[in-house]
Amino acid sequence: MCGIVGYIGENQAAPILLDGLSKLEYRGYDSAGIAIFNSGKINVAKAKGRLSVLDEKTSGGKSVPGTMGIGHTRWATHGEPSDENAHPHVSKSGRFAVVHNGIIENYISLKKRLEEKGFEFISETDTEVIAHLFEYYYKGDIMEAMIKVINRVEGSYALGVLCSDYPDQFIAVRKASPMIVGLGENENFVASDVTAILKHTREIYYLEDNEIVVLKKDGVKVYNMDREEVQKERFTVDWDVSAAEKGGYEHFMMKEMEEQPKALRDTISPRIKDGKIVLDDITLTTEDIKNINKIYIVACGSAYHVGVVGKYVIEKMCRIPVEVQVASEFRYCDPIISKNDLVIVISQSGETADTLAALKEAKNHGARILSIVNVVGSAIANASDDVIYTWAGPEIAVATTKAYSTQLAVIYLISAYMAEKLGMLTSGEYAKFISEIEALPDKVAEILKHKEDIQYLASKFYNCHSIFFIGRNLDYAVSLEGSLKLKEISYIHSEAYAAGELKHGTISLIEDGTLVIALATGQELFDKTVSNVKEVKARGAVVMGVTTESHENMEDVADHVVKIPETHEMLLPSLSVVPLQLFGYYVASNKGCDIDKPRNLAKSVTVE
Ligand code: F6R
Repeated sequence: MCGIVGYIGENQAAPILLDGLSKLEYRGYDSAGIAIFNSGKINVAKAKGRLSVLDEKTSGGKSVPGTMGIGHTRWATHGEPSDENAHPHVSKSGRFAVVHNGIIENYISLKKRLEEKGFEFISETDTEVIAHLFEYYYKGDIMEAMIKVINRVEGSYALGVLCSDYPDQFIAVRKASPMIVGLGENENFVASDVTAILKHTREIYYLEDNEIVVLKKDGVKVYNMDREEVQKERFTVDWDVSAAEKGGYEHFMMKEMEEQPKALRDTISPRIKDGKIVLDDITLTTEDIKNINKIYIVACGSAYHVGVVGKYVIEKMCRIPVEVQVASEFRYCDPIISKNDLVIVISQSGETADTLAALKEAKNHGARILSIVNVVGSAIANASDDVIYTWAGPEIAVATTKAYSTQLAVIYLISAYMAEKLGMLTSGEYAKFISEIEALPDKVAEILKHKEDIQYLASKFYNCHSIFFIGRNLDYAVSLEGSLKLKEISYIHSEAYAAGELKHGTISLIEDGTLVIALATGQELFDKTVSNVKEVKARGAVVMGVTTESHENMEDVADHVVKIPETHEMLLPSLSVVPLQLFGYYVASNKGCDIDKPRNLAKSVTVE
């Protein structure tokens, strides 16, 4: 949600900002704007709608010359999408221009105070308050004004600020909203994430909360709130530029599904050494694991669905009770947590507002936090006791695929790691599990090779009004994800149901021709799910069964059958999810939907 890019250097800023913002489009937005400093003045251009509107309005940036500027894509929270509400926002005298990602929680009281002092507001946004506050506190020292503003506002923010009194620098800060600093040759950047600046540099600083960064053409300095300089560690991003480009694919989502074997390999291989799982990244000792009383898994959306798989797997393998909760509920449910509880937090972006708040809630209760995160140095990673990174690379499509798959892989690694430490696995079982995890990337690649089969099925069903996904235990957990994938990108109503629960009400929705996608991959519950398939068939459903190669009798009951390779029972979700991702994709493609940027959705949900 919302994207920020800032530039200072020798080149024209506007085209660089527009290009950078285009790399942040995936975050979700409904208007865009840039502010460029030129000859002592700040010029602003903004427009409701897609970036192409702003691009056209500024002739690709040519109409706003200057070598320093800030840009923004806005996802409306306070006030509708409009030119007025788009960022940057400018202070009363035009001296300050501000872009902001996050939410200023006390903006109403601040706005009232500023209005009493004669400030007039043009927009309905919380951000305009910041622009006026700068003006109010500014006495000739921008750093002093920045510190006063930060002390006054409550909430989350990543801010980029231009001041016309400073022709050779701009400043930025972040708290609980993402922002990185890009270090170039005679040019420097800030951005909401690296994809926006990867074309120009791979050298970056991660900022801690309330670190203030001063960017000049030939150098960057970072200060704390006491105005002391902070020595930052430089990081080199090893993603290549193509990782954030479509590379010939029609959609990022397809590219990212195809990248799953590599993402899985990158996540799994470095953590298996000499036949053992080695989690160098974490400090959890065997003693700590033995003392775990209960595990909570907290996340949102697809990451939550990984948690549902995690519950079944960890409980089965480690015999530790696991509770999975969506973060937006967890944060307000006054959870009963003790210091011997482990809280596993899962997030691709590492910046989801509810997940971060849930993490803080758990921390306040004294729990130990282990997070599974894709974005290095993100807020959730920084706030955790231990982090295991998923090496999925940048995920641009709003609908997650490769991040989900790598999160699942990490859950498997953690489960087997803990089970071994707890003595719950014989050496043979442990070795078998590890070899099956290592085989996952090739098996996923095998499923992807046959994607045309799924494309064919999608072409038969893309006109459905409602689709049901059913399964038991792990199959149910994957049904949740399959259903979400379908509905978020194809806008077809869909529900995931525990197969045995359907007859307690929902089966009344099944009528002639209703598509039911039935997952029956595991051995133990296969016959049970087949019985549920028969129940829906008897009521007119058309059934697409998803099962493993050895289950031949699925053909007897289902109208269409999708087969996945065999693997360890616990690992089946890693394989069964792939046809469901493909199905959602092809259905959406048949319907002509905007697959990478579905309506109303944002990639990183940084507001509550
Ligand atoms: C669905 C999807 C979302 C995210 C959720 C959490 O395809 O991507 O449901 O899983 O918004 O996001 P992260 O993982 O960034 O915390």
